[in-house]
Amino acid sequence: MSSHDIPADITNEVADLRRRIDEANHRYYVENESDIPDNDYDRLMRRLQALEEQFPALVTPESPTQRVGAPLSGEFPSVTHSVRMLSLDNAFSDDELSAFVKRAATRLGSDPESLTFCCEPKLDGLAVSLIYRDGKLVQGATRGDGSTGEDITRNVRTIRSIPLKLSGHDVPSLLEVRGEVFIGHSGFEGMNERARKENGKVFANPRNAAAGSLRQLDPSITNDRPLEFFAYQVAQLEGAEWADTHSAMMARLREFGFRSNPELAIVQGASGIIDFCQRMGERRASLDYDIDGAVLKIDSLAQQAELGFVSRAPRWAIAFKFPAEERITTLNDVEFQVGRIGTLTPVAKLEPVQVAGVTVTNATLHNMDEVARLDVRIGDQVIVRRAGDVIPQIVKVVIEQRPDNTRDIVMPERCPVCGSQIERLEGEVAARCSGGLFCPAQRKESLQHFASRKALDIDGLGEKLIDVLVEREMVKTPADLFRLGVAELAELPRMAEKSASNLVAALDKARSTTLARFIYAIGIREVGEATAAVLATRFGSLDALMSAELEQLMSVPDIGPIVARHIHTFFRQQANVDTVKALQDEGVHWEEVEATDRPQPLEGQTWVLTGTLEQMTRDDAKERLQQLGAKVAGSVSKKTSCVVAGPGAGSKLAKAEQLEVEVIDEATFLERLAGYEGEATTDSEASDE
Ligand code: IVH
Repeated sequence: MSSHDIPADITNEVADLRRRIDEANHRYYVENESDIPDNDYDRLMRRLQALEEQFPALVTPESPTQRVGAPLSGEFPSVTHSVRMLSLDNAFSDDELSAFVKRAATRLGSDPESLTFCCEPKLDGLAVSLIYRDGKLVQGATRGDGSTGEDITRNVRTIRSIPLKLSGHDVPSLLEVRGEVFIGHSGFEGMNERARKENGKVFANPRNAAAGSLRQLDPSITNDRPLEFFAYQVAQLEGAEWADTHSAMMARLREFGFRSNPELAIVQGASGIIDFCQRMGERRASLDYDIDGAVLKIDSLAQQAELGFVSRAPRWAIAFKFPAEERITTLNDVEFQVGRIGTLTPVAKLEPVQVAGVTVTNATLHNMDEVARLDVRIGDQVIVRRAGDVIPQIVKVVIEQRPDNTRDIVMPERCPVCGSQIERLEGEVAARCSGGLFCPAQRKESLQHFASRKALDIDGLGEKLIDVLVEREMVKTPADLFRLGVAELAELPRMAEKSASNLVAALDKARSTTLARFIYAIGIREVGEATAAVLATRFGSLDALMSAELEQLMSVPDIGPIVARHIHTFFRQQANVDTVKALQDEGVHWEEVEATDRPQPLEGQTWVLTGTLEQMTRDDAKERLQQLGAKVAGSVSKKTSCVVAGPGAGSKLAKAEQLEVEVIDEATFLERLAGYEGEATTDSEASDE
């Protein structure tokens, strides 16, 4: 049945129901007053749903029954903002506010005190763009990087303070409204309360809750979240007249059915905006939503146009940011957290305290130098600061209130996660766990390094897959990789039989490697590929390297006391040794190289590779040069020993010619390599000198 065949009384009733429901929604969600009992509202809604079910041809996307659509599969499509979504410059003091007014007045050639400003609270939510064509909401998008955002139309449609259809007269053919989506305090408490009861996700603060809710692929989840919207800007308008001022545009938006901030005020000059910011600071605690400052905009749209913008912010507006909030609390304890690369960070465990709207229980102490600088002890009274999104900081200790029984903060000797020795070297701020290959805190990082191109070069084992393997505890150490089977891999997300067997084949191929690559792959601190190559040639076997004493390690050219210590400590951790052994048991092997401690053929030389090599990859060339003792550099200087130039060589070749550095082509390079490599391996009977 088409809509023409539907009896007129039905069409009229549907229109009437929609008008009444829209009005009730508007009064409740936009004007914050409710004048219709819940029962009556529900009755209207049910009647409309029933009629729409009976006459599906009457359903339109703007009907109040259509706020919640079907889930989206995959990702949000991206959208390009035809008018860039700018950010705002910040002011942190009255002086900075005055300077902003003065700058604008000078550019406009007017008296600073005569400038009119429209002032609004700065909401701590998310910027959203809404596009209406012929009065109908057709697109909702996030800010993204300002030029490209994500299409979240389905989700913004569930927000009751966003009209699906514009009301009032002279509806424009195109309207782009921007504003802030947020969750108020009461809504936030309610949703967390429910989440706690239902074992759902409890959010740390309203902003996180709003961000999480807006980025749901299933709009029915967004619909359950108490999201709200305040409009704060018109970005595009066609088919209607622009008003003269921003405040008049905001009044037009209210006629179209939007909600704008009731705190909005019109003031004159610097004194006016300073007063407003002060007032907002005082009102802040009594508002039902988080604000982190105020936005001050020149009200005249003509003046806005004249001022324009610099880089990413308009010259006609500024954001005043409230000073960071500080509170005093007790430092109950300090725990040490182990990061992805083994760095130990002291984390303060605080007596819970409310700072700028969130309960703070932890604060980072960064490192032991910071602990010393603050002169902080367990049991101290400390001042905690939080500003905006920034993580809470301990600013200082209230020494006058130090109790008698405080305790020193001491760095543990063993890693709290894996029990390996903690290394803290002289001159270095960070303390690190030395159980790199084994420590659960460092698993993802060490596996990524192990599989990387210059290490075991395991094709198809990327970051995402490693995350999954670690999270599902299928892989704990690199040795576990070699035990993975096709069947279990094929069941992982984004994997199939084919990619799983490719990965197993790649792992199998990676079993034959070189000693240099292996030494690099196990991730000893500060042992890069060049050092690994030197170690491989100097020691010849892994066993020799593993049992090397500090003096022996330090006698290797280019290896200083710090790197020597890292290598030494690494191989004194039983867990690392076990893992290395397990890798060999899984079939990881390399050709033994002859150990040599006589000078390598290219020792002390620096080579540069440029242009395209046709017989080998650049990495191979580099590896072979390094094994012969050469350094491979990225640029040509007077110190360069030789440049290998392939086709397409450009500025490096020119530079070499200018400095009269020797330049050879790939064929000559290959001949020389063969010669040097023969020298390095065949005459091992020759004396050490
Ligand atoms: S006006 C070109 N007004 O602050 C200026 N922004 O750094 C457009 N914000 O991400 C912004 N409350 O989401 C404006 N009353 C308000 C605001 C506001 C919050 C946010 C906005 C933007 C950021 C600007």
